[in-house]
Amino acid sequence: MFKTIEWTEEGVRMIDQTRLPAEEIYRTYTGYREVAEAIRSMVIRGAPAIGVAAAMGVALGIRHSAAKNAAELRADFDQIAETLSKTRPTAVNLFWAVKRMRTVFENSMSRRPAVAPGFDAVRKALEGEAQRILAEDIAINEAMGRHGVELMPEAGTVLTHCNAGALATGGYGTALGVIRAAVVAGKKLQVFADETRPFLQGARLTAWELAQDHIPVTIITDNMAGHFMKQGEIRAAIVGADRIASNGDTANKIGTYSVAVLAHENAIPFYVAAPLSTIDLSLASGEQIPIEERSPAEVTHLAGVAIAPAQVSARHPAFDVTPHRYITAIITERGVARAPYSDSLRALFAE
Ligand code: MRU
Repeated sequence: MFKTIEWTEEGVRMIDQTRLPAEEIYRTYTGYREVAEAIRSMVIRGAPAIGVAAAMGVALGIRHSAAKNAAELRADFDQIAETLSKTRPTAVNLFWAVKRMRTVFENSMSRRPAVAPGFDAVRKALEGEAQRILAEDIAINEAMGRHGVELMPEAGTVLTHCNAGALATGGYGTALGVIRAAVVAGKKLQVFADETRPFLQGARLTAWELAQDHIPVTIITDNMAGHFMKQGEIRAAIVGADRIASNGDTANKIGTYSVAVLAHENAIPFYVAAPLSTIDLSLASGEQIPIEERSPAEVTHLAGVAIAPAQVSARHPAFDVTPHRYITAIITERGVARAPYSDSLRALFAE
């Protein structure tokens, strides 16, 4: 089984998701700026995986810091955190992970002598925390899988959008984790994977990892989902999330909103699977979620080949927000939340 991301003595090693499925190439990054670029260019993507990468980026940055005293090390930390935080704005896991690393940094700084030799302990603490975030993420996904199994049909087709699988997380996946757990529990599921224009996470990544697991998967183009729902071929839809506001409004890959509205129209349950680190209780609604706008070239070109006339403009919001009223349930590692989400999501944090 492939590893999405891991910490090695040399640096952070990750599978290059821009090259899948044609090539399975692993890259090792030794500097935090390289990790930031890997996040920006989507060598690694998916909210929880971005969080893990950012945490490891922080640890790498401090490992190579030339700071001679505490003030310099703090300045380096701020610089590293800022560089990583500016890569992608929507997935809140990135900011959650950097914040977690900052807490460990401050705690270990307050315990260590403010001279360079003492920084070894700070470095170790950060490396340990980054690896813990990775290990916890896998366990969280497995827990989500256990909670989500009962929501999956006994048999039939489940639709998913984008890639919310092992590649988008430390391993196992959120939405695909629920599907994996349901299959292991004996449910006879097959998956329809929206190809997910323009980056093709569904066609390239979801199809690739489900095929590796021998879970039957069929690729459809995004505009076919309504047709198959109306034909009665889809029993449920399940997706991941990049940020969930406190009222349940959910930002996820562009096109998710259309899937949710179509599911509602066709009386098909629409589920979101996401860890608590994706829930942003500081936001009252999805209107406050920043939506990343990526390069139009990702729309006008496919694998570097122009598919539109030169000089024609294109837009590329990378995410959209699904209003909470279209969401049947949100599956987390602490259990399943249902409407009203302003109560049920907060209750999960209180547990
Ligand atoms: O632009 P991406 O590929 O990073 O977007 C990923 C998604 O939208 C996923 O559905 C989301 O991060 C959930 S991943 C478990």
